[in-house]
Amino acid sequence: MSSVLMDLDEFDLNSKEPITEPERQYYFMAKCREWVRNKEKEINRPLTFSVVTFGCQMNAKDSEKLAGILEQIGYHQIEGEEADFVVYNTCTVRENANTRVYGRLGYLNSLKRKNPNMMIALCGCMMQEDAVVDKIKKSYRFVDMIFGTHNIFKMAELMHTRIHSKTMIIDIWKDTNLIVEDLPSERKYKFKAGVNIMYGCNNFCSYCIVPYVRGRERSRNPEDIVKEVKELVADGVIEIMLLGQNVNSYGKSLEEKTTFAGLLKLLEEIEGLERIRFMTSHPKDLSDDLIEVMKNSKKICKHLHLPVQAGSTNVLKKMNRSYTKEDYLSLVDRIKTAMPDISLTTDIIIGFPGETEEDFLETLEVVEKVRYDSAYTFLYSKRSGTPASVMENQVEELVAKDRFDRLLKVVQKISSEMTARVAGNVEEVLVEEINGQDPSLMTGRLSNNILVHFKGSEEQIGKIVKVKLAECKGFYYMGELCN
Ligand code: 5AD
Ligand code: SF4
Repeated sequence: MSSVLMDLDEFDLNSKEPITEPERQYYFMAKCREWVRNKEKEINRPLTFSVVTFGCQMNAKDSEKLAGILEQIGYHQIEGEEADFVVYNTCTVRENANTRVYGRLGYLNSLKRKNPNMMIALCGCMMQEDAVVDKIKKSYRFVDMIFGTHNIFKMAELMHTRIHSKTMIIDIWKDTNLIVEDLPSERKYKFKAGVNIMYGCNNFCSYCIVPYVRGRERSRNPEDIVKEVKELVADGVIEIMLLGQNVNSYGKSLEEKTTFAGLLKLLEEIEGLERIRFMTSHPKDLSDDLIEVMKNSKKICKHLHLPVQAGSTNVLKKMNRSYTKEDYLSLVDRIKTAMPDISLTTDIIIGFPGETEEDFLETLEVVEKVRYDSAYTFLYSKRSGTPASVMENQVEELVAKDRFDRLLKVVQKISSEMTARVAGNVEEVLVEEINGQDPSLMTGRLSNNILVHFKGSEEQIGKIVKVKLAECKGFYYMGELCN
């Protein structure tokens, strides 16, 4: 599924490039398209591209934008890396994300040796780190283009420069105020889409590299968001996922102040839109207004991803999370009182510097009190440049690993009990795809994000159907379609 706002045929390629965006980028897409067409004639086959995403939903969304641009340029999307244009959209939130990218770059090099037309672009969070760019410049000379998180919209322009310069193109912006609207985007699903509502983060949690690589918080104008969602709905989308590092502080950076709760009310009114999801919510900014709007909404899914990160107030303070254990638990209480059937999910970091056995037990206690539907658990990873990386008392690896395993056991037990609580109910399921293992089954999601597999047919994809949750299988259901 793609959305495009301008016709590339309308550009006079002999004229000078436009100064304003997005016109300028469409001009460069047209220029690159001409190059691709000539290349295809020369080698007598279509040119292909592949975008490989590492990391979070933000990156997945950025990858759709990159794919949208490459389609406009005339490349054909394929899976896997044996393509003529390969983009790695990287993540750096934990060290192992970086390791994975370096590991796969060697493979890309071997592919490029076999295909002289191949171009390799690296972008995303990892590229915002000077040390990474230095290393690639030195040891990975075969890479064609490096850009960061702030200028993915410029990929066609960078490609154009690369074609004409024959040297590695590096363009990393430290930060930006710019939000370029109306660029092409290629959606993975016809019926659901991610929508950026804000970029960046101002929270500077002491372990986290995101504020350094994604820059300061910038919210999109509500009118632009509403326009995009209406266009998506007109194009067949019934579920949207609003994306931001901290959606609860949406609107703070706008001249005309508005709130996330206010934005949700606007989106709720869009006819044809059936489900609204969002992530991520920072507990310190979650307002009573938002709880009220969620409670009264027919469209907002009863699911909140509310990262707690740690259970001990002591650790939370060192993490710079701006809430105590008691604040968090009382927020959860308010949410559950308003919406008893809500699903709560979370992120937890184990082994933060200075975490003692007592601190860890407090994390377990919070998990047991809140009873999360699921929890993403991470071993603390030292990110250079963050305040936590130079804190004393870094936790020994074996101790952290032991706590991690103990936490996981508790999380998994509670998670399967929570999943089972809707067993036997008839619930609405948005049908997403044919089951990967058994093609007679369809796979869909409940409003609270749980997966359900049931006997159905392909025509149901993209529709909401009623399914009886017959059998709970731990973290998913086997269901029966109701007519
Ligand atoms: N180490 C481990 N986990 C981290 N996260 C962010 N930074 C780090 C780090 N340095 C986790 C947090 C965040 C999630 C997206 O990644 O739990 O919510
Ligand atoms: Fe990182 Fe904290 Fe911002 Fe989330 S809120 S992206 S954990 S700094």
